[in-house]
Amino acid sequence: DIKDIQDIRNLTRTVLDFPIKGIPFLDILPIFQNPKAVEFIINNIVDHVTSTKEKIDVVVGLEARGFLFGPILALRLNAAFVPIRKKGKLPGKVIDVEYQKEYGPDIFEIQEDAIKQDQNVIVIDDLMATGGTAVAAGKLVNKLGGKLLEYIFVVELTVFDGYKKLDAPLYSVLKYDT
Ligand code: PRP
Ligand code: MG
Repeated sequence: DIKDIQDIRNLTRTVLDFPIKGIPFLDILPIFQNPKAVEFIINNIVDHVTSTKEKIDVVVGLEARGFLFGPILALRLNAAFVPIRKKGKLPGKVIDVEYQKEYGPDIFEIQEDAIKQDQNVIVIDDLMATGGTAVAAGKLVNKLGGKLLEYIFVVELTVFDGYKKLDAPLYSVLKYDT
């Protein structure tokens, strides 16, 4: 049974040396073994987002694990869902941005017509470490004229001080300090 945030924490686990040697990888996938845990997390985020009273137009989810939470959240907020994907995966006209993450460089893309001028946008991902991924996503949202209200993470790894990089407020369901 899922009563509190500690029960969610207990469903996550650290896998050493993944995807490369030296990286302790936080695996959130066991959460999806328990529908009540998924519901707890989504409820937690919906409560937070709706408490700010601003209508969210677009939920932007980041490939790959942002796709697990983004569409469910968008449905609950009666908002659009827009994916940001790694280079070469999205059809049609896209804009891109290069970024650095915990273990190397990557390129993100978004479809050019996915966000309209002045739409209220939140970005969601499973986890923030250095914040490099989130910042890149924020750049794409801003380039398309969206108003980035907040970054949402299920897990924040606080040791990287990623929040210092962000150009918008952040909300995380769980903070890990080791
Ligand atoms: C992980 C995680 C975040 C990002 C966080 O994704 O899901 O998106 O790293 O790191 P950062 O804050 O240091 O940028 P990853 O790039 O491993 O890819 P995936 O989600 O496609 O598996
Ligand atoms: Mg990711």
